[in-house]
Amino acid sequence: MERRSLFKVLSGGLMAALGAVIAAPVLGLLSSPLRRRVQSGGEEPLPVADLARLTDGVPTRATVIAEVVRDAWSRFEKVPLGAVWLIRRGETVSALSTTCPHAGCFVDWEPQKKAFGCPCHGSAFDLAGKCTGGPSPRAMDSLETEVKDGKVLVRFQRFRQAKSDKEPA
Ligand code: FES
Repeated sequence: MERRSLFKVLSGGLMAALGAVIAAPVLGLLSSPLRRRVQSGGEEPLPVADLARLTDGVPTRATVIAEVVRDAWSRFEKVPLGAVWLIRRGETVSALSTTCPHAGCFVDWEPQKKAFGCPCHGSAFDLAGKCTGGPSPRAMDSLETEVKDGKVLVRFQRFRQAKSDKEPA
């Protein structure tokens, strides 16, 4: 009887230890700063376009691509992180996320209206990204940009949806 109890305790402890060994790396990966960096594009601004190719006052869509993304086990090259609308004004460029703050659909530029529109639930935004109609709780999310050696760089970031404040995701 005592041997049987001892066996139960030992096997229970062994199973718990085995579970912890399997769960720890998975939980670590899911919550790691690295994963968050992969989603956000990290701290570094990424090149997305040539300034010379942008027309003043006309939004141009650009894909944000990370050259290299690494985790503990793998290395990936040219990873698409998301997309932005670039709006040039002279020698400066502003960037708006293409992700609708309402529920995450793709916000499109509607040239005939000279405004942005979301096809999912009809949110509308002006050229500066300000919400002018529909259910979006806030303006389109602006992103930090810089122009360096003729290249437009964007510090890519994601934000929580359905919030009136712009909170990093
Ligand atoms: S997702 Fe854009 S209006 Fe709902």
